[in-house]
Amino acid sequence: MNDMTPTREQREARLEGLGCKRKRVEDIRFTQGKGNYVDDLKLPGMLHGDFVRSPHAHARVKSINSEEALKVPGVLAVITAETLKTVNLAWMPTLAGDVQMVLADGKVLFQNQEVAFVVATDRYAADDGINKVVVEYEPLPALIDPFKAMDADAPVLREDLAGKTSGAHGPRKHHNHIFEWTVGDKDLTDAAFRKAEVTIKEMISYHRTHPSPLETCQCVCSFDKIKGELSIWGTFQAPHVIRTVVALIAKIPEHKIHVISPDVGGGFGNKVGAYPGYICAAVASIVTGKPVKWVEDRIENLTATSFARDYHMTTEIASTKEGKVTGLRVHVLADHGAFDACADPSKWPAGFFNIVTGSYDFPVAHLSVDGIYTNKAPGGVAYRCSFRVTEAAYCIERGMDILAQKLGMDPAELRLKNFIKPEQFPYHSALGWEYDSGDYHTAMKKMMEMVDYAGLRKEQAAQRAAFKRGETREIMGLGVSFFTEIVGAGPSKNCDILGIAMFDSCEIRLHPTGAGIARVGTKSTGQGHETTWAQIIATEIGIPADDIMVEEGNTDTAPYGLGTYGSRSTPVAGAAIAMAARKIKAKAQMIAAYKLEVHEGDLEWDIDGFRVKGLPEKTMSMKDICWAAYNSVPPGMEPGLEAVSYYDPPNMTYPFGAYICVMNIDVDTGVYKIRRFYALDDCGTRINPMIIEGQVHGGLTEAFAIAMGQEIRYDDEGNVVTGSFMDFFMPTAVETPHWETDFTVTPSPHHPIGAKGVGESPNVGGVPAFSNAVNDAFSFLGATHIQMPHDYWRNWRAAKNLGVFA
Ligand code: CDP
Repeated sequence: MNDMTPTREQREARLEGLGCKRKRVEDIRFTQGKGNYVDDLKLPGMLHGDFVRSPHAHARVKSINSEEALKVPGVLAVITAETLKTVNLAWMPTLAGDVQMVLADGKVLFQNQEVAFVVATDRYAADDGINKVVVEYEPLPALIDPFKAMDADAPVLREDLAGKTSGAHGPRKHHNHIFEWTVGDKDLTDAAFRKAEVTIKEMISYHRTHPSPLETCQCVCSFDKIKGELSIWGTFQAPHVIRTVVALIAKIPEHKIHVISPDVGGGFGNKVGAYPGYICAAVASIVTGKPVKWVEDRIENLTATSFARDYHMTTEIASTKEGKVTGLRVHVLADHGAFDACADPSKWPAGFFNIVTGSYDFPVAHLSVDGIYTNKAPGGVAYRCSFRVTEAAYCIERGMDILAQKLGMDPAELRLKNFIKPEQFPYHSALGWEYDSGDYHTAMKKMMEMVDYAGLRKEQAAQRAAFKRGETREIMGLGVSFFTEIVGAGPSKNCDILGIAMFDSCEIRLHPTGAGIARVGTKSTGQGHETTWAQIIATEIGIPADDIMVEEGNTDTAPYGLGTYGSRSTPVAGAAIAMAARKIKAKAQMIAAYKLEVHEGDLEWDIDGFRVKGLPEKTMSMKDICWAAYNSVPPGMEPGLEAVSYYDPPNMTYPFGAYICVMNIDVDTGVYKIRRFYALDDCGTRINPMIIEGQVHGGLTEAFAIAMGQEIRYDDEGNVVTGSFMDFFMPTAVETPHWETDFTVTPSPHHPIGAKGVGESPNVGGVPAFSNAVNDAFSFLGATHIQMPHDYWRNWRAAKNLGVFA
C-alpha cells in the first residue's frame, strides 16, 4: 500500500453510508428557493378552480343558482353535484369503505363543505364568481357533541344510509353509528377486573386537531382529449394509490393516468386521501379541455381536508396492590365527522389502536371502538403517527400515570415494574400484535440517569412544600412517557388499501461509470429520502451515496408503491431498497468472479468491491464492475446492472422511546415554562443520525403544539372557531422549547438492515409527556385527569377548579 492508497476508514467514509451524518442533498434546492411545488406549475391556458362552501354545519340545499356567477368576466363554468351526476362522480368512495359527497347533494353536513366549483381564467375571477353563486339553505339542527350522537332523538345526518343496518365494518346500532370494532377477550378481561385489588377508570379525550402542513393540498389536472390521457400534479403522499383510485372512479385506463408528486411541503397524513378538489379539477379539465389548478387556502385546509384524533377513550386498568397490572379495558367513542374518511388500512376501522397495551405486559385486555357521525369535517388521518397509535399511546400513558397516582407509586417505577422484559421478545400482546424487539428497561434507566430523575423528584417535593408555605405560586410537573410504536404498514397478511397489499418497492439502475439512479415507491414530503435512501445503497453496494440519484413521486417511472405516511418508508421501502441492492450485488459478484478468473465462492465483500479470499491485493471495485456490466459480462449473462424489489414485510417494526418533560406552571396565570424536554428514541439501526434528530425535533414540536393548545374546536352550531393560524396554535421558534435527544439501538430482527421507522415516534411519545407533566403538576392539588389541550387559560381554569384561589 503506497501513501496514496486510501485506508479502509477513508474508503468507508467516502461512501457516506449507514450511520453517516450526511447533509441533506435536497436542502441544496430547498434553501435556495429552487424547490418545485405544485403551485409553481404554470401550464399554457391553465384555468383556476375554487369552491363555494357551506356556511352551515347541517342544512338542506334547496337550490343553487349560478346565473349571475357565469356573467362574471373570466368565469367559464360552475360545477355542482348535478353536473357531477352526469359523469357518475357526485359521490366518491372513501378509504374507510364509506362514500362521501364530492359536492353537496341535497344536503350539507359540515361547515365549509364543498357546494359548487367555480372555474375561471384566474383565481381572482373564480373568487368573484363564488360570491355570485346563490345557494338557498334550510338550516337543520347540528350534531356536534359526539356523546349525543347515538341518542334516540339525535338528528339523522346521513339520509343516504337510511335503512342500512350494516356498513363496511359490520352492523350499525343507530342512524349515526358507523361501526363497532372489538378486539381481545372480554370474558377474561371482565374476570380480571372482578378479581382486581385496585382499579382506575377515566374518560381520556384526545381532542380534534389538524396536520396543517405549510403547503396546503393542491393539484393541477390536465386532460388531453386527443390521447385520452389525464395528467395530475398534486401534493400526494401516495401517488400510485391516487392513480388507481382515479382509474377506478373516473373509468380512465390506468396507463393513461400520469400522477406526479413534485416537491411537497409537508404531509403529516393530510395528503394521503382523495379530496373533492382533485375530482372537481379533473372534471373541470375534461369539460373545458384546459388544465385546471386547485389550491386550498389555509382556512379551507384547516376546516375541510382531514382532521386528526377526536377519540374519547374510557380507560380502565386493573392491578395488584403492588402495582402489577392485570387487565386493561378501553372503550373508544370515535368522532368521524360527516363521512368516514379515515385513512387506515382497509381492515382496520380504528387503525392500529389495539397497540393500546403499550409497553406493558398486560395478561388480558379488551378494546371496543364505536365510530359515529357528527356534523364535522371528515378525515381521521394519521397526523405524524402510525394509524391511531398516538391516541393509543396517550390513552395508556395517561392511564399508567393515573394508576401510579392511585397506588401512591412513582410513575417511572410503575412502568419499570410492568415493562415487557427483553427475553419476552418476540412478544405477543393480549390484543394480537407480535412485537419484534425491544429493551425497555435499558432505555428507561438511561433516561432517568441522564436527567437525574431522583434529583428532579426531590426538587419537586421541595417546590411543593414551598407552595404550601405560600412562598411560590409555581407548581412543578414531571411528565414521564414510555411509548411503543407500531410502524411499517404493512404485511400483506393484514394490511391493504382498497385491496392493494401494502408492500413497497425500489428499482436501482447502475450506469457504466459507476453512478446510478434509484426509483422508490415512497414520496418524501420533507423527510430527506433523497439523502437516506442513497445511504442504504452506498453501504449495500459500495457506490458513494453522492453517486446515487433518488427519484420518487412519478407514477410513470417509479415502481408501484404505497407511499409515505405512518413511518412506513424505512421499514418497508427501506427494506425494498436493501433487497434491490442485494440483487445487484449478487450479479456484480458473478461479473467480478468472471473478470478475476476465480469461482464466485472465492470472493468476499470488502466495503466498495470484491476481493479474492486470502489474496487481498486481487480486487475489483464496484465502479469497475459497473463498467464491466456494460461490456464484458460472463457468456450467457444479460448485460446491464439493475434490479427491482417489491418488499412485503413479514411483520411491523416496533420502535420505542423514553421521554420526560419538566414543566413549571404559574397557577395565577396558567402560564407554563417547559424547563427541559429529553427524548430517547430507539429506531433500531440508524441510517442518518442527523436526519433522525431533525425528525425528532419536528415531531416533538408538533406534539408540543397539540398537547399545549392546538385544536380544531366547534361551537354548538358547528362553526369552526379555530379556523386560522390566529386561533389554531402553530408554535414558532419563540414558543418552541429546547429539545435534548438521545438514543439506544435495538435492531429489528426481520428488517434487512435492522431499521425501524422514526418519523412519528416523537409525536406519539411527546404528547403524553407534556400532558403527564401538566397532570403531575396539578396532581398534588388533587387533580386526577385534566383534559388536553393545556393552554394557559385551561391551566388557569384547572387551578381555579382545584380551589387555589379560595
Ligand atoms: O415514512 P417516513 O419517511 O415519514 O418515516 P421514516 O421511515 O421514519 O423515515 C423518516 C426519515 O428518517 C427518513 O429519511 C429515514 O431514512 C430516516 N431514518 C433513519 O435515518 N434511520 C431510521 N432507523 C429510521 C428513519
